[in-house]
Amino acid sequence: MVGGGQLARMTHEAGIPLGIKFKLLSDTPQDSAAQVVSDVVIGDYRDLDTLRAFARGCDVITFDHEHVPTEHLRALEAEGIPVRPGPDALVHAQDKGVMRAKLDAIGVPCPRHRIVSDPADVERFASEGQGDGSDGFPVILKTVRGGYDGKGVWLVRSSKEAAEPFLAGVPVLAEEKVPFVRELAANVVRSPHGQAVAYPIVESVQVDGVCDTVIAPAPDLSDELSTHAQQLALRIADELGVVGHLAVELFEVRDADGAPAVLVNELAMRPHNSGHWTQDGAITSQFANHVRAVLDLPLGDPRPRARWTVMANVLGGDYPDMYAAYLHCMARDPQLKIHMYGKDVKPGRKVGHVNTYGDDLADVRERAAHAAGYLRGTITE
Ligand SMILES: Nc1ncnc2c1ncn2[C@@H]1O[C@H](COP(=O)(O)OP(=O)(O)OP(=O)(O)O)[C@@H](O)[C@H]1O
Ligand SMILES: [Mg+2]
Repeated sequence: MVGGGQLARMTHEAGIPLGIKFKLLSDTPQDSAAQVVSDVVIGDYRDLDTLRAFARGCDVITFDHEHVPTEHLRALEAEGIPVRPGPDALVHAQDKGVMRAKLDAIGVPCPRHRIVSDPADVERFASEGQGDGSDGFPVILKTVRGGYDGKGVWLVRSSKEAAEPFLAGVPVLAEEKVPFVRELAANVVRSPHGQAVAYPIVESVQVDGVCDTVIAPAPDLSDELSTHAQQLALRIADELGVVGHLAVELFEVRDADGAPAVLVNELAMRPHNSGHWTQDGAITSQFANHVRAVLDLPLGDPRPRARWTVMANVLGGDYPDMYAAYLHCMARDPQLKIHMYGKDVKPGRKVGHVNTYGDDLADVRERAAHAAGYLRGTITE
């Protein structure tokens, strides 16, 4: 696996019971997964020779992030190294411009969007969306490559505010600001054989552009829209030739008749934060199914184990003594599942998550929020 973050750490964990020999290419020995994997190569994933040397002896290469240059992946594939997902699929998760163009081409509903060239062009884009006396602002701007956790996403209220996104020299995608009711995610896994499984649609709650809480399944979602969203994600996985886990981030909106509908926000082709609940809440976790898919093994059952599962992220904050925090949280809630990543604490950084489950959603949510807040140090009793 290329990339030493928490997704690699948890994918490695899922491979252990299967006896999978896991090799890691990590930026530093301190990275989350590098701390726990025995076969670690330290190196730069942007360097083709490093990738080549790393790939020697691997049966298949997969990823913890989307940032390996697409041309390097094509080079590895040309040399006969199986890359899963392959570059032709992965490019849609690497480049939001390519993703939007493809989704348009296959008829998947997206926010109004186009690539913009400078702040004046942002103004033109906004004016194209004018209506009901509005000037078309605010507009969402995104660098097409390199963003994560809301970095690389700007909300601008005028062309004057639109200068910053262009500074990186990366193409900029403009999108209408969608008046969404809430954010949902569809998680599916597809194998090279074309077998696929779909997890229940979840609700994902973002705070300051970062995922805070995930509720599985999304409360008050009709069977109809839920099935539609699952089928949409399965179709995208199939049309793009995805191998492994695919997360489709969705906006739930109301159509012209006021009926619930979904628009696609973005795609991720790797285990995803909106699927962390599956570790404790599904029969087969997203990590286990990603490993199975990448190795072209039959996929595991994606169905939930409990009526409700809630995942809450632990963000870096003003850390309490972890041992004392564990004593308190574990004693308070014996069903609590804690997943910490071994990462250095920086404000706002994802350093772990908790999962809770049960029959009463309000109770399950409260327990998750309490534990995440307590581990972060924002709740003290
Ligand atoms: N067109 C839009 N309209 C309204 N809100 C949006 C839009 N695009 C993005 N957002 C908000 O910004 C958040 C981050 O956007 P996006 O998912 O594109 O960014 P990212 O940084 O690539 O992703 P991630 O946080 O998933 O790593 C979204 O989850 C959503 O809350
Ligand atoms: Mg996102």
